[in-house]
Amino acid sequence: MKSHTPLAKFIHWSFSILYAYGIFKQVGDLSELEDPALLNFEILFAVAFLVIVFIRYFYMKDTETLLGANIEIRKGHLFIAKSVHKLVYFTLVMLPLTGLLIAGLFSIGAGGIELAIGLHEFSAFLSYVLIAVHVGASFYSKLKGEGIWNAMTPFWKEKEKKESKLISYLEKTEDKVYETIEKTLRL
Ligand code: HEM
Ligand code: HEM
Repeated sequence: MKSHTPLAKFIHWSFSILYAYGIFKQVGDLSELEDPALLNFEILFAVAFLVIVFIRYFYMKDTETLLGANIEIRKGHLFIAKSVHKLVYFTLVMLPLTGLLIAGLFSIGAGGIELAIGLHEFSAFLSYVLIAVHVGASFYSKLKGEGIWNAMTPFWKEKEKKESKLISYLEKTEDKVYETIEKTLRL
């Protein structure tokens, strides 16, 4: 059974903690940035976050998606998984970039800060939705025992592919979705 490298797993889980920290420590409102120590910390955090996202992206970009699967992965399935991963990366870049934009506009006292805050809030919202979809899909795959979970998560391992009436119904429904995607996009 194929698995992601120990470094890929380390980056995935330590970065998940960094992301959660970034979301929970968020700036309450603009006036908090009048404290220069907080402003500097936010800038430093955003730059470090951005650098780590890029390092991770370049380390992972040639890695096979859903590589632990013990089932045949259809092109339509792979397309959805790759698209969600790419969109997750997009939001992980947008969050610190728009944060840095707020910091820049705030420091020079230029206009347009409301728009920058809007973009920042939208990036945060998009990251919640996409990461919820990603985590939901991981648990869904785990329910079916497809091996994808085992390749990235070092705990609560799956033992074997699970079979039941419900699972075969879900798989048939999924197949229809993948077929439609493959036909529409000519994959
Ligand atoms: C309970 C939480 C999570 C679970 C169970 C989970 C599970 C997984 C699994 C099983 C994979 C491997 C998919 C494959 O083989 O292609 C994966 C990959 C990935 N996960 Fe998660 N994940 C979680 C949280 C997160 C969070 C919080 C983020 C973003 C901050 C994230 C971003 C990614 C990305 C971008 C990939 C693609 C591989 C990579 O570039 O590292 N995941 N995740
Ligand atoms: C990786 C870095 C960052 C993360 C993960 C992050 C995350 C967040 C999140 C989740 C919110 C709440 C958005 C919402 O209401 O839905 C927020 C708000 C905010 N962030 Fe960030 N942020 C980051 C960097 C920055 C930086 C560098 C600045 C500026 C120095 C900044 C300034 C703000 C401000 C002013 C708000 C409040 C917006 C309002 O008035 O509602 N953020 N941030």
